[in-house]
Amino acid sequence: MPIPKAELHLHIEGTLEPELAFALAARNGVELPYADTEELRKAYLFEDLQTFLNLYYELMAVLRTERDFEDLANAYLARAAAQGVRHAEIFFDPQAHIARGVDMGTVVEGLWRALGSSETNHGISTRLILCFLRDESAESALETLDAAKPYLDRITGIGLDSAEVGHPPVKFREVYEAAAALGLRRVAHAGEEGPPAYITEALDILGVERVDHGLRCMEDEELVARLVRDRIPLTLCPLSNVRLRAVDVLAEHPLPAMLDAGLLCTVNSDDPAYFGGYAGDNFDAVREALGLTEERLRELARNSFVASFLEDDEDRRAR
Ligand code: ADE
Ligand code: ZN
Repeated sequence: MPIPKAELHLHIEGTLEPELAFALAARNGVELPYADTEELRKAYLFEDLQTFLNLYYELMAVLRTERDFEDLANAYLARAAAQGVRHAEIFFDPQAHIARGVDMGTVVEGLWRALGSSETNHGISTRLILCFLRDESAESALETLDAAKPYLDRITGIGLDSAEVGHPPVKFREVYEAAAALGLRRVAHAGEEGPPAYITEALDILGVERVDHGLRCMEDEELVARLVRDRIPLTLCPLSNVRLRAVDVLAEHPLPAMLDAGLLCTVNSDDPAYFGGYAGDNFDAVREALGLTEERLRELARNSFVASFLEDDEDRRAR
């Protein structure tokens, strides 16, 4: 029995397995520039975040209808359930779809067709987090938040993803302020490829409650002390860090040092179809490569619920 866990860092578009990509391509009459799933899989050798993002955005071309987003989410939920995931806070990238002529309603309603019945069908409670693409403009982020307004009953929070370096959190101050005023929870990717200063900025300027990745905090002692003191959760993604070369090999991942430092770490899959594994696979990989004890693994699983927006939301509703 896999350890029950929450997954807090998961891009739904990053769960698009090659088989589903080809099935959706056929259903929608979209031509993919790969002969078959085998050839596509050969393209999964990334040099860094950007080389991954190029493929990630290219394959999104197959996602066109509500049913496509529903099928994508159901496929993820089924796999996650089998690996012990009981709660999932799921990112989506609306700008990448709107730019292709697929509107916000199609994406959110399609995802909701799976998420709305996920507790019954998969035993997984869910939250939806709308991410802004940081390599797009601040104006585009504001327009995207505006487009999401009819769907805010379905959206718990906002996040920030895509190419990090050169796109500091401060660029998105205004949209984060607007989202906070709407009662949305706030997270952001920071310190994946970008410097520790981006983590500090995400906390100070964007008011994030959780940092996605946050790996590079270890280069700044004062920042680590602050993250520990304020119990700011970090959503780490070990297999992703290896595939995108943030670390050379898993055995050198700083997770044990981060736990020893007292950081509130969680383990997640990021883009499991691309990085070689789902949440449970990430747990198994760190157990093997880093020799984490059963107690440490249970701590990571416990952290995932503590760091989730689950109880807070329920507390809020009860008030
Ligand atoms: N979008 C999907 N996966 C991502 C990652 N690991 N970092 C930044 N943006 C992403
Ligand atoms: Zn991510």
